[in-house]
Amino acid sequence: MSTPTVVTTREELRSALDQLSGRLGLVMTMGALHEGHLSLIREAKKHADHVMVTVFVNPTQFAPGEDFETYPRNLDADVKAVERVGADLIFAPSPEEVYPNGDAQVTIDPGPTAKVLEGKTRPTHFAGVCLVVHKMFNITGADVAVFGQKDAQQLAIVRQMVRDLDMPIEIIGAPIVRAEDGLALSSRNTYLSEAERQQALSLSQALKAGKEAASQGATAAQVKEQASTVLENQNVRIDYVELVDPVSFESIESGEGVLAIAAYVGDTRLIDNAIVEVQGA
Ligand code: PAF
Repeated sequence: MSTPTVVTTREELRSALDQLSGRLGLVMTMGALHEGHLSLIREAKKHADHVMVTVFVNPTQFAPGEDFETYPRNLDADVKAVERVGADLIFAPSPEEVYPNGDAQVTIDPGPTAKVLEGKTRPTHFAGVCLVVHKMFNITGADVAVFGQKDAQQLAIVRQMVRDLDMPIEIIGAPIVRAEDGLALSSRNTYLSEAERQQALSLSQALKAGKEAASQGATAAQVKEQASTVLENQNVRIDYVELVDPVSFESIESGEGVLAIAAYVGDTRLIDNAIVEVQGA
């Protein structure tokens, strides 16, 4: 267990980084840290000499009416959580520190991968993610960054951005962390009532049903249908259930794909996914 240095300004960050030598690993978060985030930090430690964590609820990736204002914020608890796994540095800036000039005039178009699934429901989301990720890569000068497979589309888009813009950083994907009952860990799970949490189990159960169907030779349509039925039986409102290519996120009919789900449990929108191999018709 080691206490991380907590900094909130770019200047403090610069002097803290000056004390560190070797390969720097970065784990970007919006706080409300849970075991899923801690697993990213553990992974980053395998690839770097020092690890820093950003805690920043990024306004540019939220659309009006989304949960930017209510998103859980508790830096003290986050620092304690990071202490449990050990990281060198936490950067927890204000929005003004990250966006000192107000709205960015030069932005990133995250391309076609950002227009499907999450991008259909949240059309401005990935441009905001790419903007803050690119800024944090530049501000920190990290050598390697770890992102969770839970946000599979985000991971694919960040990888694409790094490739397309020749950004000098290595991107590592880390597996989804689940509670014992299968629920994928998410900061937004804190919004769920006890009854809703039970309903939310249908997301991982739907993925399991889809995977099982695929292993018994079901077509892509049947896999999606199986998964959807599990969600509908729990009265969970489906946003999408899709089988997509893991890189482009375009729909596929066969091969190895990401079975991706977004669904509303009460007012809370949750996402989950699993890798599924479909033989095809
Ligand atoms: O995955 C998240 O929590 C956010 O999208 C990220 C990568 C920290 C950017 O704000």
